Amino acid sequence: MPRPIDIRRARLSDADFIGRIYDEGIADGNATFAHGAHPAEERAAWLAQRPENAPVFCAWDGETALGWSALAPFSHRPWYAGVAEYTVYVARAARGMHIGSQLLADLIATAPTFGYWKLVGMILSDNDAGLRLAHRHGFCTVGTHHAHATLNGQWRDVTLVERHLVIDPSAHSDEATRC
Ligand SMILES: CC(C)(COP(=O)(O)OP(=O)(O)OC[C@H]1O[C@@H](n2cnc3c(N)ncnc32)[C@H](O)[C@@H]1OP(=O)(O)O)[C@@H](O)C(=O)NCCC(=O)NCCS
Repeated sequence: MPRPIDIRRARLSDADFIGRIYDEGIADGNATFAHGAHPAEERAAWLAQRPENAPVFCAWDGETALGWSALAPFSHRPWYAGVAEYTVYVARAARGMHIGSQLLADLIATAPTFGYWKLVGMILSDNDAGLRLAHRHGFCTVGTHHAHATLNGQWRDVTLVERHLVIDPSAHSDEATRC
């Protein structure tokens, strides 16, 4: 049974826990190429400069922050204006309790209200939880960027996943894309 949570638009006062959860993901070594610490001031500045079509959401159980999610434009090119990259981070202590699933389901439902017609995810190829989460929510694997960037001195592959929000995803379904 999924843990019931509230998902709300992030406020500047959420910057501290957003940074802490992000830093946990960084420390795990397979969530992101980002490095260094993300203290509250840095995350507050990050939140404050985001345009309207780059929302951040937080998952709460009462007063306890469990995770966060975000959408960001995929490209500056106007013809890709309906494509967003998604991000989901769950606090280590709350993983495996369907919090990520609820955050991603909410992003899928909400994204069209921000003008998006497709979501893409760029997931380190050995991030089993990130890939499983995406596939569970109807994302297809559409390719791999080999040795796309380095993390702690190691070249890492990045798996691209996508889910259309307007066209029925089963229209593209095949073995290769794992839809
Ligand atoms: C990826 C992440 C968001 C998943 O959140 P979560 O709340 O733990 O995931 P859920 O409990 O909703 O589970 C989602 C699916 O992933 C599976 N899963 C969860 N943890 C897993 C793991 N370590 N390995 C393999 N599969 C895993 C679950 O079984 C579930 O699949 P199912 O519904 O088919 O059983 C979380 O692990 C996390 O925050 N990781 C660090 C940040 C990150 O890598 N984000 C992804 C890129 S944006």
